[in-house]
Amino acid sequence: MPKTFLITGANRGIGLEMTRQAVARGDRVIACTRNALESSDLVALAKQNDSITVLGLDVCAEKDMKQIAVGMKRPIDILVCNAGALNSYGGLQAADHDTASIANVLMTNIAGVFFTARSFLSHVLDGTPGKIAIISSIMGSQELADSNAPIYRASKAAATNLARSMAVELAPQGVAVGAYHPGWVRTDMGGPQAITSPQDSAAGLLTRFDALSLATTGIYEDFQGNKLPF
Ligand SMILES: NC(=O)c1ccc[n+]([C@@H]2O[C@H](COP(=O)([O-])OP(=O)(O)OC[C@H]3O[C@@H](n4cnc5c(N)ncnc54)[C@H](OP(=O)(O)O)[C@@H]3O)[C@@H](O)[C@H]2O)c1
Repeated sequence: MPKTFLITGANRGIGLEMTRQAVARGDRVIACTRNALESSDLVALAKQNDSITVLGLDVCAEKDMKQIAVGMKRPIDILVCNAGALNSYGGLQAADHDTASIANVLMTNIAGVFFTARSFLSHVLDGTPGKIAIISSIMGSQELADSNAPIYRASKAAATNLARSMAVELAPQGVAVGAYHPGWVRTDMGGPQAITSPQDSAAGLLTRFDALSLATTGIYEDFQGNKLPF
């Protein structure tokens, strides 16, 4: 039975590759981008495949997102909160930890996940079954703390925490929620030295989303199914 995904940040990186692979295996994707005019790779992919619907969506703009959600009548089987931002790999003293960039990371990686889940919850409740996958990071693990990128780490710790809260809140309604580390992936964010290809990451993540159920809700694992310490 083909599934319907909604993926945020689907215009590049891991989100674009998940979109490509989901439709290649017969699923449908509502592929979200905050700037469709600058999303040439996604638009080209959608032109070749009518299982992709391109949707303009900024995860920080909750009012707009709610309006879009109200106008959208399709059920969502897997809501993937993938859009993310990283401002600095530096530590406490790094100059790029400025107010505006910190606000953007916290809004995108924390509030953006919350707004996306809240806006599309009714669609997920209509899914068969509806699930929510939050793309977090191993960098949000508090047991695996390290000395760089403290704001990004804090934001991803919060994203994992949101997944845990939502898992508890939504289990009675039949919705499973998971938090995922996609690997260190060769994207604009991960950089060219990263060890995992977008293809391997996306393939692993889609398999993990398939495996997510009410029996495993609240899970925090990587794209290969290895459980991560909180
Ligand atoms: N790459 C890695 O090694 C790695 C490791 C761990 C976790 N992750 C996580 O995996 C996810 C995908 O990362 P990636 O490597 O594919 O990053 P990427 O190549 O930098 O792509 C980030 C995506 O998020 C979108 N985005 C950012 N802010 C947004 C907003 N306000 N509204 C809507 N979309 C927004 C970007 O859209 P624009 O093109 O419009 O900016 C882009 O599509 C992120 O959550 C990231 O934190 C990545």
